[in-house]
Amino acid sequence: MGARSRPASRGRLFPLDVKGVCRALLDACLVRQAHERSEMSTSASTSGTPSGPSIEQVKASMRSAWMAGDFGVVARTISKPAEEFVARLAVPAGRRVLDIACGTGNTAIPLARGGAVVTGVDIAPNLLVQARERALAEGLSVTFDEGDAEQLPYADESFDVVTTMFGAMFAPRPGLVAAEFARVLKPGGRLAMANWNPAGFSGKMFQVMGRHVPPPPGLAPPVLWGDETTVRDRLAAGFTDIEAELISIDFDLPMSPAGAVDFFRRYFGPTQVAFSRLDEAGQAALAADLEALWASGNAASDPTSHTLVCNHYLQVTALRL
Ligand SMILES: C[S@@+](CC[C@H](N)C(=O)[O-])C[C@H]1O[C@@H](n2cnc3c(N)ncnc32)[C@H](O)[C@@H]1O
Repeated sequence: MGARSRPASRGRLFPLDVKGVCRALLDACLVRQAHERSEMSTSASTSGTPSGPSIEQVKASMRSAWMAGDFGVVARTISKPAEEFVARLAVPAGRRVLDIACGTGNTAIPLARGGAVVTGVDIAPNLLVQARERALAEGLSVTFDEGDAEQLPYADESFDVVTTMFGAMFAPRPGLVAAEFARVLKPGGRLAMANWNPAGFSGKMFQVMGRHVPPPPGLAPPVLWGDETTVRDRLAAGFTDIEAELISIDFDLPMSPAGAVDFFRRYFGPTQVAFSRLDEAGQAALAADLEALWASGNAASDPTSHTLVCNHYLQVTALRL
């Protein structure tokens, strides 16, 4: 009789789901850290002080900037490197993948071609229209939703893999972004980021633009997601097995450095918006500095009609705790 009663009482000896409790504690810790970090990284802009716009204003103007121009045209110039990034991740068919800040689908589409069950999310609805058209043209089934990397419209532990290429790095509050990565991933799930590196060409381009049109006070520069020490610190609370590697990527444009500046000014929303905030003299000065940057990095054999610049991004992979 005693032997028979043991299994029943054993169940009652451990009435708590220990794994669940650990997870809840970890999640509480992540949320607290996210709040602390978001306070730090947006102290001036969230406070509503005269020193800067509110976070709502910052986010609305970022959304407009990404909707300006036509990022789809720029994305086509880096579609091959996006496919290479996806190939390195080797996501097995059938895995549920969330591609955050998916734009026109440069990474979501090759992921779907490989058999993953893909959802792409982005704040710019016009880019999602292009992403849907691209998927349809290839007969691929991909869900594309409008949403913010800082507040993803998905339940906890919904995805096996989260990817983001040159995307979530642009959300203004990195602490919230890191917490959202962790929240929507299943335990053991994989995060893969491609983030422009501060010392690379894109890092320098954002620096030049920031000199002419300063960003709102208190925001962490997006390219800090491309700095290994910073990214390890941001992911530490929710992830393990963090690996980072600098990957080179060419910007190869069939035009002169001045043409490259015009190309970005026309199609890359943030550059277009930066120019629109300057008077004529300011626009000429920004164009001259950007042209000098493109020219200084130009390795093309015919630099008057061709611009070939070697750029770098930090590839980051990590496993959800
Ligand atoms: C440089 S594009 C990259 C797009 C795409 N991942 C690619 O590699 O082609 C940056 C993207 O981030 C999106 N984005 C910026 N901030 C965002 C946010 N807070 N939440 C979601 N998407 C965001 C923009 O709308 C834009 O599509």
